[in-house]
Amino acid sequence: MKKVTLLVVLLLCATIYAQKFEGLAKTPPMGWNSWNRFRCDVNEKLIREAAQAMVSSGMRDAGYVYINIDDCWHGGRDSLGFVYPDSARFPSGMKALADYVHSLGLKFGIYTDAGWQTCAGKPASRGYEYQDAIMYAKWGVDYVKDDFCFADSLSAIGSYSTMRNAFYSAGRPVVFSLCEGGDHKPWLWGKEVGHLWRTTCDIYAAFDSLEYHNNWNALGVLRIINLQKSIRQYSGPDHWNDPDMLEVGNGMSVNEDRAHFSMWCMLAAPLISGNDLFHMSKETSEILNNKDAIAVDQDTLGISGFAYSENGPIEVWMKPLAAGDWAVCFLNSGRETKEVNFSWKGNIVTDTLTNRVLNPGKDKYTIMDLWKHKETGTTDKDFSAVIPSHDVVMLRLSLKK
Ligand code: GLA
Repeated sequence: MKKVTLLVVLLLCATIYAQKFEGLAKTPPMGWNSWNRFRCDVNEKLIREAAQAMVSSGMRDAGYVYINIDDCWHGGRDSLGFVYPDSARFPSGMKALADYVHSLGLKFGIYTDAGWQTCAGKPASRGYEYQDAIMYAKWGVDYVKDDFCFADSLSAIGSYSTMRNAFYSAGRPVVFSLCEGGDHKPWLWGKEVGHLWRTTCDIYAAFDSLEYHNNWNALGVLRIINLQKSIRQYSGPDHWNDPDMLEVGNGMSVNEDRAHFSMWCMLAAPLISGNDLFHMSKETSEILNNKDAIAVDQDTLGISGFAYSENGPIEVWMKPLAAGDWAVCFLNSGRETKEVNFSWKGNIVTDTLTNRVLNPGKDKYTIMDLWKHKETGTTDKDFSAVIPSHDVVMLRLSLKK
């Protein structure tokens, strides 16, 4: 009897003091997710192959560790309400799949939804939060993306907090990714609840356009970038703005993929690749594996970049980095090639959010071109480049001691 009382007290404490698992995403999470490329066509063979490709392509060693299954893995709920996977697609079960992913030195992620059904109409977590959290813990899940379809008038903060508490009481640390599409301004409250939150509706593989659906729109890369400009102050270690998963390798041009990836790094965005890892082109692999660009994204300060200037189609983005360094990205958002000139000494850049100042008139910086992977001089000489349409020049300025 005493044991039962103790258990009840412990469970109550776990619920009262429930919180998110701290420290799981000190830098933006990196991995792969099935949705952007494979939609509902998921099965255990695909997930195993993605995990293998993550290793053989060098991506795991570049930092991509999460293998995340998105919507449509679900079979149903048993008579007690516990969720189980579709046995035709996942005949070995989720525990075996998670074990396999873990055996490759990777982590395992899954998808659910806070409402009555997932966006694809599968069983979702409303009313089953604690049971689902227990099941995921049993399977060995490390990352959960929680959508917000069929949520009717549910409170986003309320239902996501319930799920957070459920994870905490299940006891297995999980990265918690809130995916309500920015409608409830999660940047204002998400820090206490999850490790990252989607800031917009869905991305699709286009650079500067919008795709109409019945009651929602998918956004191209530039549209999403524009929506990040006013919310950088809400992002940081363990609580990231998430402008959605990557579309690199899913149909844009190489220039556009490079610009997309560079800008996600400038934004300190989660880098969740969404392409066919098994059949990647050399160019796609080079973009996703660019360790110099990834270092900008994963910088320990965790500061999201900002648009310092916008001159016609040319945007100059700046991101303060650790040890006094800066990342600078010249983005040509227009449809024509442009010549760009920029005087380092003529621009004192002040980041009002962090009070960091880039003043090449006072301090000298060496410049590394992060796509050419070579040093290109110092800030003593003005910058000048010809940038093709929908492309970037991305630089790292390192303080010369
Ligand atoms: C929503 C999400 C997508 C994906 C689908 C799955 O649209 O925003 O990222 O998870 O649901 O149905």
